[in-house]
Amino acid sequence: MADTVTAVRPEVRREPVGDWDEDTLVLGIETSCDETSAAVVKGGREILSNVIASQTDLHGEYGGVVPEIAARAHVEALTPAIAQALRDAEVTFWDLDAVAATLGPGLIGALLVGVAEAKAIAAVLEVPFVGVNHLEGHIYSNLLVHPEATFPAVALIISGGHTMVVDVADHGKYSLLGQTIDDAAGEAFDKVARFLGLGYPGGPEIDRLSLLGDAQAVAFPRAMADRPGFDVSYSGLKTAVINHVRSLEAAGRPVPVEDIAASFQQAVVDTQVAKTMAAVEHVGARRLLLCGGVAANSGLRSGLQRACEERGVALFVPPMSLCTDNAAMIAACGTAMLRRGLTTSLEASPDPNLPLAL
Ligand code: KG4
Ligand code: ZN
Repeated sequence: MADTVTAVRPEVRREPVGDWDEDTLVLGIETSCDETSAAVVKGGREILSNVIASQTDLHGEYGGVVPEIAARAHVEALTPAIAQALRDAEVTFWDLDAVAATLGPGLIGALLVGVAEAKAIAAVLEVPFVGVNHLEGHIYSNLLVHPEATFPAVALIISGGHTMVVDVADHGKYSLLGQTIDDAAGEAFDKVARFLGLGYPGGPEIDRLSLLGDAQAVAFPRAMADRPGFDVSYSGLKTAVINHVRSLEAAGRPVPVEDIAASFQQAVVDTQVAKTMAAVEHVGARRLLLCGGVAANSGLRSGLQRACEERGVALFVPPMSLCTDNAAMIAACGTAMLRRGLTTSLEASPDPNLPLAL
């Protein structure tokens, strides 16, 4: 028999486990929803590579993510994405010090693909595996690009699956200040876009149309405005948009899509800016970290920028490529966990409802 299965490992071994410094190389893997992503991050801050294979084309015709299609697409895309991430970073598997993957929350079939591959790589390399909370990962997207983005801070995590305002006292120390009581903001964007026939994902298209429309054209409701606390609600807003369009159609009047998109977006921005800034003031935070897919929204960015400037609060926003799901943020968060001595057992399973450790 040819000796094909032996002598794969090189002689040189990495630093002992626990020696996490500026040179630590972590492979990040993200497969919680509809982006297959692999990244190599150095020292928790420097992105050496960040490969993102989006599946949105596969889900577009269904108007939303189809879990089974997502899981199968991750199976096909993940190994090539990891190989590409290593090539882009000009490193090999044997240079890696740890492997971090999203453990949850997310779609269980999708999560399983990333976690299984991450654990297999970690086991073969004999390096630690770190299971990362996807929401915590989003917070770290800011730390990858802004050296001054440090804790304590308030984080607004706003995406297709979540809308949360979190007080971050330090790495791993979170307390929830407010969240949506029904639909996530991105979910509302996607549902309204779908109703208006704008395709999936709807956020970017509504954002684009908003620039062409009149944000004052329709006075959509600002839910929870008169309630204390920092929770928001977007389900009623979505229904108000649908009812408005139906009444125009019933009256045989034209539907000004740009004006409706702009008025809807303004209602989301007004609501979220008011509640977020109230939370920032409540805890006396000097920094606000915006993250998650909806952080790409131009109206939300400018609304928060204005509100933060008025109050002397530093606003940090990741570049567009780090707003939506990506593995660099998972590797960065995983590195911070390693620094705190946290690793995850190879027996751990992904959890579709994994809570942020509050
Ligand atoms: O963080 P993400 O990639 O995935 C989740 O974890 O949900 O966020 C995706 C969400 C989608 O709902 C998408 O419509 C929304 O982010 N999104 C936007 C914009 N770009 C993406 N929403 C509003 N305006 C945008 N420019
Ligand atoms: Zn996300």
